[in-house]
Order: sequence, then structure tokens, then C-alpha cells
Amino acid sequence: MAHFTVNGQAVTVEQNQKLLRYLRDTLHLTSVKDGCSEGACGTCTVLIDGKPTKACIPQTDKLEGKSVITVEGLTDFEKQVYTYAFGMAGAVQCGFCIPGMVMSAKGLLDTNPDPTREEAAYAIRNNICRCTGYVKIIDGILLAAELFRKGEVPPVPTDWSLGQRVPRVDVEEKVTGTGIYPDDVYLDGMIYGSAVRSQYPRARVLAIHTEEARALPGVVGVFTADDIPGQNKVGHLVKDWDTMIAVGDITHYLGDAICLVAAETPEILAQAKALVKVDYEELPMVRSPREAMLPDAPLVHRTGNLLTHKHIQRGNPAEAIAKSKHVLTQHFSTPWTEHAFLEPECAVAYPDGDGVMILSTDQGAYDTQHETMGMLGLPAEKVKVRNCLVGGGFGGKEDVTVQHHAALIAYLTKRPVKVKLTRAESILIHPKRHPMEMEFSIGCDENGIIQGVAAEVIADTGAYASLGGPVLERACTHAAGPYNYQNFEIDGWAYYTNNPPAGAFRGFGVTQTCFCIESLLNQMADIVGITPWEIRYRNAIRPGQELPNGQIVDESTGLVETLEAVKPYVEANQYVGLACAMKNAGVGVGIPDTGRCRLVVEDGKLHIFAGASCIGQGLGTVLTQMVYEQTKIPRDKIVYERSNTYCAPDSGTTSGSRQTLFTGEAVRRACQDLKAAMAESGGLDGLNGQEFYGEYLGKTDPLGAPVPNPVSHVAYGYATQVCILDDEGRIRQMVAAHDVGKAVNPISIEGQIEGGVVMSMGFALTERYPLTDCKPTAKYGTLGLFRANQIPEITPIIVEKEGLNVACGAIGIGEITSIPTAPAIADAYYRYDGKFRTSLPLEGTPYSRK
Ligand code: FES
Repeated sequence: MAHFTVNGQAVTVEQNQKLLRYLRDTLHLTSVKDGCSEGACGTCTVLIDGKPTKACIPQTDKLEGKSVITVEGLTDFEKQVYTYAFGMAGAVQCGFCIPGMVMSAKGLLDTNPDPTREEAAYAIRNNICRCTGYVKIIDGILLAAELFRKGEVPPVPTDWSLGQRVPRVDVEEKVTGTGIYPDDVYLDGMIYGSAVRSQYPRARVLAIHTEEARALPGVVGVFTADDIPGQNKVGHLVKDWDTMIAVGDITHYLGDAICLVAAETPEILAQAKALVKVDYEELPMVRSPREAMLPDAPLVHRTGNLLTHKHIQRGNPAEAIAKSKHVLTQHFSTPWTEHAFLEPECAVAYPDGDGVMILSTDQGAYDTQHETMGMLGLPAEKVKVRNCLVGGGFGGKEDVTVQHHAALIAYLTKRPVKVKLTRAESILIHPKRHPMEMEFSIGCDENGIIQGVAAEVIADTGAYASLGGPVLERACTHAAGPYNYQNFEIDGWAYYTNNPPAGAFRGFGVTQTCFCIESLLNQMADIVGITPWEIRYRNAIRPGQELPNGQIVDESTGLVETLEAVKPYVEANQYVGLACAMKNAGVGVGIPDTGRCRLVVEDGKLHIFAGASCIGQGLGTVLTQMVYEQTKIPRDKIVYERSNTYCAPDSGTTSGSRQTLFTGEAVRRACQDLKAAMAESGGLDGLNGQEFYGEYLGKTDPLGAPVPNPVSHVAYGYATQVCILDDEGRIRQMVAAHDVGKAVNPISIEGQIEGGVVMSMGFALTERYPLTDCKPTAKYGTLGLFRANQIPEITPIIVEKEGLNVACGAIGIGEITSIPTAPAIADAYYRYDGKFRTSLPLEGTPYSRK
């Protein structure tokens, strides 16, 4: 037993437990986020006697007489200051790390009211942020310090036109911790569910013994594949993912669910899971694509080990390369990467009539609905999904992981249920970035003009298809780079293995192939005798020219402008690396891709409903600015409603940097009718009860379409990034110039750039997700994520190139920010020590880990 205070109130805790559990489960102080429960992420940081401390570490019995402060315990003025400062600095994206950041900031500012930038960075060194790259959080802390010194908070801007630097629409709820992620939901009578996972990557399940677990008091049910009312298989595109492995079937990886246990408390749940006994026949596993392609390889799926093969060709690259003055051929490898979003997967589901309601954190409420309704055998109207706040996704929350399990338990038990992955489960279960083995050849003439490129790519897509097909396709289509040449051929294969699945990850396959083509171009520049900047300037795609995929690019093509923007940094430094990239906005290649929205006038306010997940990238703010730009309805009368499947029309998955353009254009279109109606009625007030619908279908041509110049994608973003090393070989500065069409909110774009650059600094230098016999061995704390006090100066440069005639010219930027970083860094080390590195993470740098 212990007596202490929480936010000034005396408490007595009878049963010793982790402080985190007491604060969340008993007091429901849900600003204290549970990101790992391993002391590694810092989302649960509180002040104990004024000192920032991770609440997942101390036991309550050790807190006798102490004072605990959470964000809920800040004064109103402190809340106002942090909300304003973090909002105006752009410090908040997904928001999951933010309450912990605020408490670390308070710990600093309470004792040091005028800190330096270095002191602010050091103060949050134990708080991981996967979204922002820390720059703007440090800006926010310094601005908060200034406001505390002044003792007043300025008003927030009222002009929300496109191009204005405005705070996110959800900044207050994310800073003060009142915003709801699924794990923050506590419902009356709620039970807890979790899956018993496979002991072997590949084994036949012979029997599942659930009797002992069922007999434990407090266990509500134990469910196997036999209890599934609909189809066992789910899957984002390919229905190959078992909800649970049935008796007699074979497991595909260690993350496979064997049965689901539901219990009254998390403690009983853990005990019951340990009582489930499973008999297996262990079978040989497939560890790699090389093993998967052997003629006598065990089959991961009955359909065979090859998920997909892509072949793309234009022109005759073999002949063009053979005739080239300079030719380079090189093998490259890129590793598995874990998304490491701060919010582990969690879903709450409860009975809703004779169907279910799912409160989810995902990248597409409609995707979650579609996957779950097949499994439950229910029509769409009986499976409702509502997005809560999403604590980061980066591609890793496109597949269902817990949502369908929660829905099944709620459906079978008729009780509300929470299903949440531990951090260890999260690291094991959701799809990762594909590791790829790649062979690239490039031929150039004596002036460095590219004559042709030929390549082969082999990807490990792991246990399930997930987004493996489209990821391989984007890896292949973008392998040519953003250059003006016409001889290109690539073959790509994605193989199933018994490793964790691989799927979408910021960059969507392009991160991997960009490393190859850009590294080769840097080496080629040396051979030709020109600079890496010059070889790109000579080859860069310009408006009206034809990409290697045959698409004629439009006036919005701004690669040259990004090169020109970084030129002064390249010329002024010695150890400088450079790389370019392009990335599509939208699904493209002939697949129907539609943005939709409903604008509803209610109580004198305009409510934006779009079935499009805001995963921290700031979609709600983009759409609010679109409405303001078109209608000039005051900001406080525009309400962004979170995505759901019952009021908001399906606007597709948050993937492929598509939402700004697709849903943005749908909103712009809906605003045309709204504007006309406002003109007629004399304003918004006369329109109560009315609604306005907008839809935008992006038309593209399929891959290999029999037309001379197929339109593969409605738009592309372009970028050039530069890495500058100091004399010790550490990164002094990253410069990232990005062509975004029209910049909707420059703060938000800078934040995307900084976050993407830091994420891929990890990809290039420090991050590892090792596997031993198909088993991941990393913990959150060993993934190698950059910390706030380790980042260099990052200089984002926004290039606005007009010419796109949808969404007011705005092109999404979510993914491209991560794409050219690794080759730029590799090139900087090549200039520094002359070693041409062909695999990631780069070896022999000051950042290398043993
Ligand atoms: Fe920091 Fe998302 S805003 S993890």
C-alpha cells in the first residue's frame, strides 16, 4: 500500500502495481500513453517530485509521500501555453508522444525558464517521436519558454487560407491529452481480449486444448477458428491471412493467432493465455526468398511461394546499355524496417444491434469494415467502424491486426471488448518494409546522359501478401528515377516466406530502388567527370518530357527547381551527398481511385465528413483550409469529423500520399455547390440541415496500356536531398528541397519533411530489425531510432510549382520525404572516405552499431 498525490489529490493505492496502470486504468488519466511498457519510448512520462519519469517503470509501493503530475494536472495557463506553442511550432503530428513531451518540457522549464536549443533537445532525449523528427517539438518548447517568460498567450491566426502557417485542428486535444485513441476508451462492462500466438513459424496445428483456460474464473470465452461465423481468411487485397489457424492447418509465421481468449481483466487474460496448450507438428520453415524459390521448397501457402512477378519494359535497354560509353552494374541490399509508430495497435468493439461497432486506429475505416464483414459474415451496415485518433501509421496500419479479433469477440460474447497488442506483439505482427536484393545496370554516354537502365528486384514479402504486390510494383515503376530517358526494363519478384509479413511502409518500395539508381548515378558522375549535381541536372525530367514509363509530365514538374534550390549547399561544402526522387500521389495505374466527402451544415457550423484516415499527417487541417479557402467560412465554424463508415463516404485508404490531392479535390468540388448555396441564402446560417457532396475520380491508365504515353499517375512529387558531413564524419546538416505543387500549410509540410528525413536517417544509418530463424529479436529500445539530441540541423525547402489542375495544385508529401535520404547519406560517406556502400544500414560510419 502507498499514499501519494496525483495532480495535487491524495490517493491511497492498496495493491502494488505499475504507476502507468494505476494512472490509466484506475484514475483514467489517459494523457499518460502506453507506448511500450518497457521503459523505451517515453510516451508515459510524468513528473514525480518534479522529475520527468516514465510511469511504466515505478511500482506504486515505491511512491510513498511523493507527488505525481500528469498533463491533466497542468494549470489552465500552462495548457494554453503548450497548446499555442506546440500548435504554432507545428510540433504535433499523430500526437501520441506529445503529452509525454509536454511533461519532459515542463520538467525542464520549471527549473530552467530560458533554455538553449541543445538543452531543450536533451530534455526530451528519452521521448521518442516517430513523426516529427523532433525539430518542431524543440521549437515548441522554446516558444513555450518564451510565452511563460512573457506571461501571455497571443491569439491564434484567423486566416486559414491555403499557404497560411496555421496550427493543426486537433492540436489542443493532443497536447492536453483529451483526444481519444482506442486504448483511451474504457466502457462499462468492458472485457479484454488477446490472441495466443504460434510457437513455430511453420507448424501444423494438431490440437488446441482450451479447457483449463475456460475453467479459470473470470474467463469469458476462448475462441478458435471454428467459432468464426464467416470466412477465416482476411487480407487487404489478397485474402490469404488467417484470422486464426484452424486445427489441421499450417502456421505461416510466429504472429499467427491460434485462438482468442477473452477475460474480465488483463491479469486474468494473461493467466488464461498461459493455460492454453497447443499441439504442433513442427515443419521446415522458409527463411528467405532464396529458400522460397528452390524447386523443393516447403510451401508457405498452397498457391506457391511466388506472390507476384512484375515485368516492365519500354525501349531496348540491353542494346542501349551495350552501346553506352560508360556502364555500371551493382548489387544492392536493403533491410527489413519496423514502422515503430508510437501507438501500438488497439481496437475496442461492442455489440451494436445485431452487428458490431469497432473503434479503430487504422489507415482506412472502410478497409477495416470490408475485412471484418467477410470474417463475421455480416453485411456492411452491420459492421460499423469509427476512427479514433491514430498514433502513427506510416503504412503499418493498413492491414487489420486487432480490429477483426475485437469484433469477433464482441459479436460472440455480446460484451464490449478491448484488444491491444503489447509492443513485442506489435513488432512481430504488423507488416514491415520489404527487404530487397537488387541488381542494377546503367549505361550513360560521354556526357553522363542516361541511355538505359536494367534491373532485377527480389523482395521478401513474408508470411502474407498484405500490400506486397503494389509495393513491388511501385518499387519497379519508380526504379527508373525522375529522369528523361526511354530505355528501361525491370523484373521484380516478391516471395512468401515464414518471416513476418512485409507491406506498406512510407515510400512504398521506392525507398529501396531509389537507393540503387541514385547511388549508381553518383558513381557514374565520377566516371564521367562531372558532379553528382550536374549529372542529375542534365538528366532531370522537365515539363513536357517523357518519363521512362512513357508518361508525359505536366507543368507542375519541379525536379529542376529542387536541384537549383540545393545548389548553394552543395557548392559550399566538402563532404556532400546528393540524391533525387519522385513519388506518385494516388494509387494510379488504372485502378479506380476516388476521393469523396460530405459537407453537412448543422447548428450553424459546417461539418466535414470524409472516410479518410488522418494518421498524423494533418489531413483534417488540409481539408479545413480547403473549405476556408473556397468559402471563407470562419475557422471556428468548420468542424473536421473523424473518419467513419456510417456518415462519411468512402474516400479510400490513407496510402500513396493520396489524401491531400484526392479528398482535397473532393472537398474543393463540394465547396462549389456550397458556395453557390451560401450566395443564394445569404450565408451559412440559412443552410442548416443541408449537405453538399463532392467526388473526384483520378483517371489513369493500367500498366502496359496500349497507348503511346500512358498516364500512370495523376501527379508526382519531386525532391532533392543533400547530406553534409563534418570533418569527423557526422551529419552536420540535411537539406531537403521538395516540390509540393501548392503548399497548403507550410508548417505541416516542413514537419513532414523533417520527420521523413529523420526516419530515413535511421533507415540509412542505425535501424535494425534482425530475424533469427524467422523470429524478430528486436525490442523497441534496440530498433535504433534516432533521439532528439542526436539529430543534425535539418533545412526543409518548399518548392511550389504550379500546373496541377486539381486540389488547388496541392500534391501529397507524406512518402517522398523518406525516399532520397539514404542514397544522399551514402553519397556523402562515399565523398568522405571513398567507400562505395551498397547495403543498408551503412557500415563504417560514426553511427554504426556493433
Ligand atoms: Fe510524435 Fe507522432 S507526433 S510520435
